[in-house]
Amino acid sequence: MSTFPDNFLWGGATAANQLEGAYLEDGKGLTNVDVIPQGKYRWEVARGLLSYKDLPEGEYYPSHEAIDHYHRFKEDVALFAEMGFKCYRFSIAWSRIFPKGIEESPNEAGLKFYEELIDELLKYNIEPVVTLSHFDVPLHLVDAIGSWRNRDMVKHFEKFVVTIFNRFKGKVKYYISFNEINMLLHMPFTGAGIYFDDEDKGHKDEITLNAAHHELVASALATKRLKEIDPNAQMGCMLAAGDFYPYSCDPKDVREAQRDNQWNFFFVDVQSRGEYPRWVLKYIEKENIDIEITAEDKQLLKENTVDYITFSYYSSRTSKADVSEEELQSGNAVDNISNPHLKTTEWGWVIDPLGLRITMNTLWDRYQKPLFIVENGLGAKDTVEADGSIHDDYRIDYLRQHIEQMKLAVIEDGIPLLGYTPWGCIDLVSASEGQMEKRYGFIYVDKNDQGEGSLDRSRKDSFYWYKDVISSNGENL
Ligand code: BG6
Repeated sequence: MSTFPDNFLWGGATAANQLEGAYLEDGKGLTNVDVIPQGKYRWEVARGLLSYKDLPEGEYYPSHEAIDHYHRFKEDVALFAEMGFKCYRFSIAWSRIFPKGIEESPNEAGLKFYEELIDELLKYNIEPVVTLSHFDVPLHLVDAIGSWRNRDMVKHFEKFVVTIFNRFKGKVKYYISFNEINMLLHMPFTGAGIYFDDEDKGHKDEITLNAAHHELVASALATKRLKEIDPNAQMGCMLAAGDFYPYSCDPKDVREAQRDNQWNFFFVDVQSRGEYPRWVLKYIEKENIDIEITAEDKQLLKENTVDYITFSYYSSRTSKADVSEEELQSGNAVDNISNPHLKTTEWGWVIDPLGLRITMNTLWDRYQKPLFIVENGLGAKDTVEADGSIHDDYRIDYLRQHIEQMKLAVIEDGIPLLGYTPWGCIDLVSASEGQMEKRYGFIYVDKNDQGEGSLDRSRKDSFYWYKDVISSNGENL
């Protein structure tokens, strides 16, 4: 079997709110993610069903310190370089640049931080892959205008991205607009700062679809502005992917899976094809949803489609027409039902390496744009041995099996794939659980779920394994 192209971008992925910490330092403003606590209230807040303002005192907020990457980024980048990373995907915290989202001019200290990070990466020939919005929204915009439900967000976001494009012109070639844009449907407060108060409860669909439309318009506008400012740079969209399989060949299950897939692909359909799928327009009409899609919006969407499709893949999902409560299972915040053919992780996420090849084929058949796997990985507990070593063979097994399928998709199916950045290449705060002990990293960070630990970094067995995978360009698995 031949191998990956020479310029294949092996690397790792993170997000500002899950690793930087320093949540109020150097002028940074609060975000939606900064007010989501760990523990029993987390899901309700994440789903927009409980206001952060109604939480009791004394909650623990893991994003505040996270793994303190803000102060240790040089050490972290040196470790990425040691593994041989060709690229590194990270996100820029909007509220470091515009603390409230509404300021006329940007916060220079915030820009400087990312400039130093990007320069440090370039020093090691690591290509920066920049996510413009990885869940975090300046909290002021959440409180003052209801976040993405409000069209004004488009102009605030435009100002933010234009600032970034101008500052990093010529240094950053790969941008991603919204991380897991479809997460709006599953974790609306985490994913987009959307909270539903009592009056909103009967209009959730309307609010969500309006927010979706504003994000889609903002994403197209970001693409347009990027091409004007830095024509050599590329814009990608980002999907929490994983095909929905029908539970059985009963046509009712097949139709259920088809519908789940349609909802899942809705955002990328618009970002990649430049227009709303007909079934969404029919749904809006049938449900009497009040949403303003102007002629200018349609033109903007049509003329500014993405250059490439990025996605996270943790598992496939399964759909069934008649589901009982007991059959429901959560995987990356998406409710689905258990698949009797597949095992799950300690956190109940389905493990399905072949599903990665299936998902890649679906995405390629659907869009015919280059793909980029920007998240994949196993969240697991690690044990530090007396000598400091960490034998995470379970993580190596998971990644190996997924890379094997990715390789088949590239080599046997001929799918153009730009790169592969496993999630949480350094241990960080989990987005769904707010835990540290759900670890994804090749690099261990000494910190526990209570927030205790030295924050020291150390190399797991997977660190050396991945280094060899990269240096052999995927030959040695
Ligand atoms: C994706 C997100 O949903 O999955 C990441 O883009 C997240 O932010 C990752 O961390 C893994 O999920 P979790 O909940 O295990 O951290």
